[in-house]
Amino acid sequence: VLVPTPSYPLLDFIARLEGVRLVRYPLLYEDRWRLDLEALARAAGRRSRAVVVIQPNNPTGSYLDSGEIEALRAVCSRHSLPVISDEVFLDYPMEEPGPAPTGLLGLDGILVTSLGGLSKSVGLPQMKLSWILVSGPDPLREELLSRLELIGDTFLSVATPVQLALARILDAGRTVRDQILGRIRTNRRTLEQLRDERAAWEPLRTSGGLFAVVRAPAVLTDEEWALRLLDQDRVQVHPGHLFGFPGGGYLVLSLLPPEDVFQAGARRLAERIAAVAG
Ligand SMILES: Cc1ncc(COP(=O)(O)O)c(C=O)c1O
Repeated sequence: VLVPTPSYPLLDFIARLEGVRLVRYPLLYEDRWRLDLEALARAAGRRSRAVVVIQPNNPTGSYLDSGEIEALRAVCSRHSLPVISDEVFLDYPMEEPGPAPTGLLGLDGILVTSLGGLSKSVGLPQMKLSWILVSGPDPLREELLSRLELIGDTFLSVATPVQLALARILDAGRTVRDQILGRIRTNRRTLEQLRDERAAWEPLRTSGGLFAVVRAPAVLTDEEWALRLLDQDRVQVHPGHLFGFPGGGYLVLSLLPPEDVFQAGARRLAERIAAVAG
């Protein structure tokens, strides 16, 4: 199964539990995150079973653009591969000119599953309710639905309390979603405004999702940066290697803290990098 990298760290563990071998296709950062089209084409082969796309990706916050989606479609079509599109963060686009990013359902001629859930869409991970939407040509779509039904039955039913509350949770969740969206956009702006021209760090461009990635100078490893920030500044960031970033000082920040907490943390991060790297 093909998966993007850098990406969500649990994919490795989930794959291992399911006896699935992952083959990575890289996302590369230039002025923005781009899919390495040739690497994707090379990664797909006779033994491939599916392509996982995370739209927007965690933690890069990147979406496939229309050209990349077309290239993905061509690869899937050539090897008869379905797309598993993890769209749990789709409700959280950053402000950008242009049309809002969309999921991959309806991709012409390809079997697509779109994954979503309460965890991110209304900020309630502990409710443990999620869903899979399916599109694609019949009879493949019908067969997939009947297999998913069997899997759903095998894991036994979704808890009754959350099923009964679902309509109200979805309704009330709109307010929470708007608050999360407001907060992540404000925190993102704060991070950008804190950086002055000569700073030795930069926030990588992101188009959505709940995280920011900062590239700090490679005078320390990402782990050393993370430990120093924790020990000396009481600021928690995640070292990028956990997500599959190549070496260097990639640090992953959550955009979810309250605005004043995020601002204080981001300021300390900027000051620490200036103190260490000059
Ligand atoms: C890309 C991605 N998919 C899925 C999940 C898990 O979602 P859930 O809590 O609905 O299982 C996460 C959690 O952070 C995630 O980042």
